[in-house]
Formats: sequence, C-alpha cells, structure tokens
Amino acid sequence: MDSLDTRLKILEPENKPLIELFNALAVAANEISVRISRGGDFGSIIGDENADGDAQKALDVLADEKFLEAATGSKVVAAYCSEEQDHAVILDESAPLVVAIDPLDGSSNIDVNVSIGTIISVLPNPGGDLQQAVIQSGERQLAAAFFVYGPQTTLFLTTGKGTDLFRLDPDVGIFVMIEEGVLIPEETSEYAINASNARRWFPPMQRYIGDLILGEEGPRERNFNMRWIGSLVADAGRIFNRGGVFLYPGDNRPNYETGRLRLIYEANPVSFLIEQAHGAATDGSNRILEIMPKAIHERVPFIFGSKVEVSWIANYEL
Ligand code: F6P
Repeated sequence: MDSLDTRLKILEPENKPLIELFNALAVAANEISVRISRGGDFGSIIGDENADGDAQKALDVLADEKFLEAATGSKVVAAYCSEEQDHAVILDESAPLVVAIDPLDGSSNIDVNVSIGTIISVLPNPGGDLQQAVIQSGERQLAAAFFVYGPQTTLFLTTGKGTDLFRLDPDVGIFVMIEEGVLIPEETSEYAINASNARRWFPPMQRYIGDLILGEEGPRERNFNMRWIGSLVADAGRIFNRGGVFLYPGDNRPNYETGRLRLIYEANPVSFLIEQAHGAATDGSNRILEIMPKAIHERVPFIFGSKVEVSWIANYEL
C-alpha cells in the first residue's frame, strides 16, 4: 500500500506545498505518538487556561510546540492558528497556506490511556490581515486531517478527492494507506452524545434522543446503541469505520448555547472529511461547511455521521 508521501503525490501532483506540509505534520505526529506510548506525566496542568477556557495540560503544550515547529519547518505556512493560543502565529506572509489546528483533542482522556488526537484544517492564504486568515468558510479548505493516537496511530486525510485512512508503521515511522476512499454507511442504529447533559438540552434534542431510547417500542421502531468515548477524533474514527451519528448540541449552560466544539479547527475539518466519505455534517439544520465564522475560537452545535440519520435529525428543527 502507498505511503502518505506517495499518496499525496498521486492526489496532489502539482501541489508541492500541501505535500511538504503533511510530510512535516506526519513527522510531528509520529513523535507525539511515540511520546504518548512511552507514558509520562502528560496530564498535569501546567498553564492557566487555553484560548477556549480549558485547563492546559503538559501534552497540550508539547503537541502545540511540535506542530508549530513542523508548520514553521515546512516553509509553506503563512499563519498557524491553534486552540492553545489566543491569536494566530504569523510565520511567513508570502507562504501559500494557513493552518488551523487542535493540537491535542480529547485532553480529558490523556491521563487514562484512551485515544486522543490532533485535528488539522488547511486553508489558502487569503492575504490581508493574517490574524484574520482563518476566518473563511469550511468550503474553502484545501485539505483536512486528523491523527488518532490510540491502540494504533491512524490518520484520516482528505484533499477533496475522497477520505483515505492511514496507519503509522511504528517500526519505520511512516504512515501507510490502509483504506482508500473510506465510505460511511448511510444508515445507522448507533449514536454518540454526552447524555449527562440531557436535562440541559433544548426540547427538540431531548425529543430526538428520547425517541431513540424508546427503541422498538418508540416511533423509530428499532433499538439504538450508544457509544461516547469523549474524544472527538476517536468517536469520529469509529463512525468512519462502521457508521453512526455524533451529537454535541447547544444546551442551557452558560457559554454552551452553541455547544462545545470549535467551528474552525474541529467542526470544519471533521465535516470536510465526513462529507468526502459520503456522510453529512450540520449544526442541526445548516451544513457546517457553509457557515461563515466570525471569530477564531467560536463554537458551533455539531452533528455528523451517517447521512440518512443526520437528515432525519433535521426534522426535529433543533
Ligand atoms: O475538544 C473537546 C472535546 O474533548 C472533544 O474531543 C470531545 O468530543 C468533547 O470535548 C467531550 O466533551 P464532554 O467532556 O463535555 O463530554
């Protein structure tokens, strides 16, 4: 099977910057993966709070440093915009690409040896004020990817020509394609949601999940199973493999009116990958990729996965 570099050269023969960028990011991901598998005190809190108000842990900071180094070293990135930093880091105004990144997704799972990952969105350099460079709709993404550091280290990647799945060969430190053109099953009987928030959801979401829980005796006339890993990358990885629907809706907690997940560096890249695998991704009613962001760290209600179930949810008018 093709290595990541070979696959990128097939997908993007003319697009040298994208090839340079992903080769550099893959080296950083390999290093993070090795560090995680060796263990250590990665979960201790070492900063105050990141731009999103989450406590910064040692691994969050290490991953941010490594991916920033990779983006800088690739020499193709104009601005690097990370969950871990309030503002974009400007690298080279004349470079063609802009990177938005969640360097360490699922940080509540760091201490407990559960899969975590890195999510990446690549946009064109729009010129002008590079502090605002990531304020582009998800449709403009040139590529999107996420790494999952789990029992295996994997990479889901799209450049807009389908979604491919790679696995890190730890003996040689190279990502090898294991599935070309991943396809998400259109229908599903499995959902993922943090059900501890049920009392805080708005009524349409309570009705939808209520209908699933009623199973065979309810309006859906079949039983549904539930899975919630608590790392977006790991829940998304499962959905690429066997279908399902993921929901992080808005709720009535302060600051959670539009959910928890971030549009620019979480929902947009995952949505691009999902659509390229023939799934769907919305905020309940609107396609995520068409939303025009207003701010770097803005949140969005996020629903994605098997196409038929995602469009069924639209009937509830969330
Ligand atoms: O990025 C935030 C994140 O850790 C996601 O990976 C995950 O899906 C979600 O938050 C979990 O949120 P909660 O702790 O509210 O279930």
